[in-house]
Amino acid sequence: MKDTLRICIEEKKTSYIPIWFMRQAGRYLPEFKEIRKKNINFIKLCLNPNLIAEITLQPLKRFDLDAAIIFSDILMIPYSLGQKVEFKKGVGPVLGDIELDNIINTDPTDFIKRLLPVYKGIEKVKDNLKGKSLVGFAGAPWTLLLYMLNKESPKNNFNFDKINKNKFLINKLLKKIEEMICLHVDKQIEAGANIIQIFDSWAGLLPKNELPNYCYIPTLKVVQHIKSKKIPVICFPKGIGESYVDFCSTVKPDCISIDYEVDPKWIKDKLNGTPIQGGLDPKILLDDDKERIKKNTENYLNIFKDYPYVFNLGHGVLPETKPETIEYLIKIVRNKK
Ligand code: CP3
Repeated sequence: MKDTLRICIEEKKTSYIPIWFMRQAGRYLPEFKEIRKKNINFIKLCLNPNLIAEITLQPLKRFDLDAAIIFSDILMIPYSLGQKVEFKKGVGPVLGDIELDNIINTDPTDFIKRLLPVYKGIEKVKDNLKGKSLVGFAGAPWTLLLYMLNKESPKNNFNFDKINKNKFLINKLLKKIEEMICLHVDKQIEAGANIIQIFDSWAGLLPKNELPNYCYIPTLKVVQHIKSKKIPVICFPKGIGESYVDFCSTVKPDCISIDYEVDPKWIKDKLNGTPIQGGLDPKILLDDDKERIKKNTENYLNIFKDYPYVFNLGHGVLPETKPETIEYLIKIVRNKK
C-alpha cells in the first residue's frame, strides 16, 4: 500500500494530513547527542551505515510521524567530489579550496563508491519503516555551488558579485553538480528512498533577476530527472518570497515546501492545487507558551483544511527545541481531523 505522504502528494487527498519534520533526526534529540559525542567526525558518522539507520529511525521511535528522512547531509556531494568538508563546532561547515579540474574529472563510479555507505544505510532503514515514507534528499545546485565556492556558510560571509564573476568556472561546476545530484538521487531511490526533497536553503540570497539562471533552470533539470523515475519530488527554495509562484510554474515540483515568511493564504490561492508542505516558524517551538504554539499551528491547519497539505516547519527543527514540544505539536495536528 502507498504511504500517507505519497497519497497526499500524488493523489492530492485532503482527508489526512501527514506530518514529518525537516531536521527531525539530529541536534535536538538526546539520543542523537549521545551518538554524536562518541563520533567527533561528522562526515565519518554520515558514512556509517549502522549509525545512519539508527539515527534515521530515532525520531520514529519517539514520535507518531509519517516519514523518515535519511540521516546524511547535503555537503556529502562536495565531499564525494573530493573537496575537503569539515564541521567545526560553533562555526558550521568549512570547505577546502576547489580544484576545478579534479572536481570536473571526478569519475561518477568513484563518486558513487565514496557514498556507498549512505546507500547501505538506506537499505537498512527500508525494512523497518512499517509502511512509512522514506525521504531521500540532496541540496539544490545553487546551494551546493554556493557552499563549494564560498567554503563556509554564507551567513558569515557572502558576496554575490564575487561568486558570479567567474562564469566559466560556474558553468562547468554547475553542470557537474547537477549530474552528481541526479546520480546521488538515483542511488538513494535504488536503495529504498521513495520520495525526494531538494533543499535550496540559500535561494533567498539570489538577486531576483538571477533566480532563473541559478535556481529555477538548474533545479528544473534535477526535478525532471526525478520525475522520470516516477518518484515524487518536494522542492524547498527557501527565502524567495513572492517568487515561489514563478518557481512553481517553471519547475513544477510535485510538492512545494514553504518557509515561515510565506503567507499561507496567499500561496494557497496562487498555486492551483500544487500540494504544499510546511510553513510554521521553528522559532515558535522555542516558546514555553503552549497556547501560542497551538494557535499558530491551527492557523496553518485551518488555512489548508481542504487542500493537499503536508505538515512540517518553515525550516529545520532548531537544536534548542525540546522533544516534548515536538510531541505536543504532533498531537495538535493529529487531533485536528
Ligand atoms: O533532516 C534530517 O533530520 C536529516 C539529516 C540532515 C542533516 N543535514 C543532518 C545534520 C539534513 C536533511 C541536512 C540538510 C542540510 N545540511 C541543509 C539543508 C537544510 C537546511 O537546514 O537548510 C544544509 C544547509 C546543510 C549544511 C549543514 N550541515 C550545516 C549548515 C550544518 C551545521 C549547522 C547545523 O545546521 O547543524 C550541518 C551539520 C548537520 N547536518 C548536523 C546534522 C544533524 C549537526 C551536526 C552536529 O551535531 O554538529
